[in-house]
Amino acid sequence: MKNNLQYLSIVILDLDHPGAQDMVYKQRRNQIADLSNNYWSNTAAEVPSIVYTEQEEQTWQNVWQKLRELWPDRASHIYLQGQKNLDMDFAKIPQMADLNQALKKASGFKLRPVAGLVESRAFLSKLADNVMLCTQYIRHHSKPEFTPEPDLIHEFMGHVPTFADNQIARISNLIGQMAMEASPERLAQLEKIYWFTLEYGLIEENGKIKAIGAGLLAGLEDQNRAFASDADLRNFDLGEIIKTAYDFSKLQEFYYVVPSLDYLEKELLKMANN
Ligand SMILES: [Fe+2]
Repeated sequence: MKNNLQYLSIVILDLDHPGAQDMVYKQRRNQIADLSNNYWSNTAAEVPSIVYTEQEEQTWQNVWQKLRELWPDRASHIYLQGQKNLDMDFAKIPQMADLNQALKKASGFKLRPVAGLVESRAFLSKLADNVMLCTQYIRHHSKPEFTPEPDLIHEFMGHVPTFADNQIARISNLIGQMAMEASPERLAQLEKIYWFTLEYGLIEENGKIKAIGAGLLAGLEDQNRAFASDADLRNFDLGEIIKTAYDFSKLQEFYYVVPSLDYLEKELLKMANN
């Protein structure tokens, strides 16, 4: 029966997506989408194991080699410690099941497969179950330094080491709990908070500014932009953030700097209790 489900998914890529005209890439995306869709149709199944191609491994390597030189200066110690705590070999593409084993020991957070970008209430609400919905395909090889949608470089290299931190796990869970019952207006506010912190946020550490958001940690173009001498960096202000629009498919124009995770958690708790 499962065989009948294979290759039925059709992933739609925007015309300006780097892989939009590449039939081999699109077929691969459909194949991986099938695996995640099959996972959800059979809740007893393990998360899919994927044999990555040489080209996919090369795309990962291309990004990994550049970022690992930059993280010691630019990444938050929370991220660097998270990588250490996971004790995974990030020199090649990790399997989601292995990351889950490592996260279980670190913070209890879990990864579950999805075929692509997920509607925000579904994505954020899952955080309340300590689950991050997570893609397993990789960006197009022609543009390794930026992706207009989440991919495994963004998820595994960017988010996962931060989810190994108990406070980030707690903050994510809190956002998830608020999202579950949120009005559409409140949900839109939570999306923005998530975006400007755990996706594209910076954090102050010992008088220096470091990356804490996955889009910066694993996105070279955005990271270079955030650390440029003329970067538009703004002080974290929850009241301002909840009114600030963003475009997920483009390089960001500005970034917010949170004073600490304690500060962020307190602000979120205040919001949750209001
Ligand atoms: Fe993300």
